[in-house]
Amino acid sequence: RRVAIFLSGGGSNMVSLLDDMARPGHAGAPCVVVSNRADAGGLVRAAERGVATEVVDHRPFGKDRAAFEAALTTTLAPHAPDLICLAGFMRILTGAFIDGWQGRMLNIHPSLLPKYRGLNTHARAIEAGDGVHGCTVHEVTAELDEGPILGQAQVPVIDGDTPDTLAARVLVQEHRLYPAVLRRFAAGERAPLMLTS
Ligand code: GRF
Repeated sequence: RRVAIFLSGGGSNMVSLLDDMARPGHAGAPCVVVSNRADAGGLVRAAERGVATEVVDHRPFGKDRAAFEAALTTTLAPHAPDLICLAGFMRILTGAFIDGWQGRMLNIHPSLLPKYRGLNTHARAIEAGDGVHGCTVHEVTAELDEGPILGQAQVPVIDGDTPDTLAARVLVQEHRLYPAVLRRFAAGERAPLMLTS
């Protein structure tokens, strides 16, 4: 299965996916890394690993999400992906684009969905006094952070945690969970994978 990875930032999740796809027995192989930001650090890390990279800057399209997504589709075409992994991709995709990838697009979200959809998940978990937090890999559907859950990893929330210390603890688990889920998903497996740290 040809895997496209979308990112907007440093790409630590992308690196963990690429490194696992480079190990034996993986049904997926990276075909392209796409970013909406030309300055995304993940683009350099992808190129260092020999993976094709593309930039589709969303800004020239203003509020016209459909036009941005048409540019995404045109840019993706020569790479012929079968699957898309969103990995720190900070643009909301419309239902029309997602419908075209139904069942073939994954995302990692830094909370134990269905808790804390959206942003600032670590601060919200601390604020709520949660003892447990974590991350979720799910299939992307038109509803933000709503699709079928493919895997979760839990971490403890420790007294004195700040959003940054908690985010760092969650990120370690993201780097375990996302590769494990993609390896299974690319092989056609759909049973949710639950990891405890
Ligand atoms: C991380 O906060 C992660 O929780 C979310 O995207 C952010 C950046 O990840 N998925 P990355 O280092 O760019 O993969």
